Amino acid sequence: MKKFLCVTLLAAVLFPIIAAAAASAPPLPRGYTAWKKSERKLVTDKNSLFYGIHYIYADKKAFQGYKAGNRFPEGSTIVVDYFNIKPGSDADGPKNMVVMMRKDKRQKETAGWLFAGYGADGKPSGLDPVGTCFSCHQKDAAQRDHVISTIKDFKL
Ligand code: HEC
Repeated sequence: MKKFLCVTLLAAVLFPIIAAAAASAPPLPRGYTAWKKSERKLVTDKNSLFYGIHYIYADKKAFQGYKAGNRFPEGSTIVVDYFNIKPGSDADGPKNMVVMMRKDKRQKETAGWLFAGYGADGKPSGLDPVGTCFSCHQKDAAQRDHVISTIKDFKL
């Protein structure tokens, strides 16, 4: 009985925390691979965090933002799919990670962008949006609305 109470109490305490974490990582938008797609990006430097292949997808609003010189309207959403490199070639291997940014003025700690990381299965991976994602984007692109890529990365 005591044990049961403990578990119930723990669940009561943890549930809001889990719910809050889930709220900060919304589900990936459906059909994003049909959005404007960047050039294929191959990073062969094994020391790079981005070793592998990736593609950036921008929804309509985000694409407007790129065209305006990286000034993004509220709601703009950008998703990046990352793939391993198939051994012995430079072809795409299996997907290994997905990241998303969405312009959301409630995200005051991260300059009005929601940052979220996902596993290959599309489930939130719990990466810290402030310490991990934002700090790097802030360092590299504070002058470009915190978006590192530009319109030049897209096929027009
Ligand atoms: C070590 C630095 C670094 C960290 C940490 C990082 N990013 Fe990035 N991110 C980049 C770079 C560099 C690019 C540009 C890639 C390109 O141009 O192909 C990028 C691109 C992106 C893009 C496409 C839009 C843009 O800014 O070009 C999104 C979305 C994104 N990152 C989200 C995230 C999320 C979410 C996290 C945390 C889970 C994260 N990033 C962590 C460096 C970082």
